[in-house]
Amino acid sequence: MGAVEGKVALITGAASGIGLATAQLFAYEGAQVAMFDRNADLVHETARDIGPSALPISGDVTSEEDVEQMLAACVAQFGRLDIGFNNAGIAGAAPIHDHELGHFQHVIDVCLTGVFLCLKHQSKQLIAQGEGGSLINTASINATQASKGLAAYCSAKAGVAMLTRVSALELGEHGIRVNAIGPGHTQTPMTERARDVEGFDEAMIGATPLGRLGEPEDIAQMALYLGSDASPWVSGQLFYVDGGITVNELPPGFNLLESSLRRPRSD
Ligand SMILES: NC(=O)c1ccc[n+]([C@@H]2O[C@H](COP(=O)([O-])OP(=O)(O)OC[C@H]3O[C@@H](n4cnc5c(N)ncnc54)[C@H](O)[C@@H]3O)[C@@H](O)[C@H]2O)c1
Repeated sequence: MGAVEGKVALITGAASGIGLATAQLFAYEGAQVAMFDRNADLVHETARDIGPSALPISGDVTSEEDVEQMLAACVAQFGRLDIGFNNAGIAGAAPIHDHELGHFQHVIDVCLTGVFLCLKHQSKQLIAQGEGGSLINTASINATQASKGLAAYCSAKAGVAMLTRVSALELGEHGIRVNAIGPGHTQTPMTERARDVEGFDEAMIGATPLGRLGEPEDIAQMALYLGSDASPWVSGQLFYVDGGITVNELPPGFNLLESSLRRPRSD
């Protein structure tokens, strides 16, 4: 029996990267999966590849009307909701003194307001069903780790982490668990441009204890754990899935101490 056998999952940003890998894993593990994405062609194509257990829905997480329709389509097709994975997101970098208001607001709209709208309508559905459920939000290591050029993205992801905690506090009495995942640098279309920057991959890998970049499947496995009945007493948490990179909070120079302190002192 699959880890999410018989459950209904709704995944946003499901046409690509982390969302797609999660839709594939959930379907493989026995769930019926509603796949929501603003890329209509791609979400239909990828859902077709998964098969009859996948329902493609096109729309934008920043539109409350689209999010309501997403829930309605999921429930009309599969009869209920058990798991929401609020994962759609965008990035984009600009220094703060040159950050266009429109860009800043757009990143906040997609990455933070979009998660709020999904939580709002998913929790309504779960409360009405009266059987609990699991809601999972994609944050980032940037929820707590500042990066130059990512004022909007870091702010949005920090907001997602706090929204997760508030939602867990409010929804616990309904048996609804709410958690967030903080991926490290993961190889998806979103990060393609960063990977083109010379030396970037090497620097990331060098700072990662497990010595490699993330794959979408690494993140999907955490979503599976949080969505399944294997995590019944887990709520309100932000889980980093990052090869250990967030352990490296001090400048790389500090790691030189490892070899220098190993030498016995002569004085
Ligand atoms: N890849 C990484 O290194 C990384 C690291 C930390 C966090 N994340 C987060 O993981 C999530 C998934 O990112 P990914 O790397 O898989 O990127 P991706 O670009 O491969 O996938 C994102 C998907 O979201 C969809 N989307 C974007 N805006 C949308 C909107 N307004 N409405 C509906 N769908 C929308 C896109 O069409 C796309 O299919 C994002 O929230 C991202 O911030 C990614």
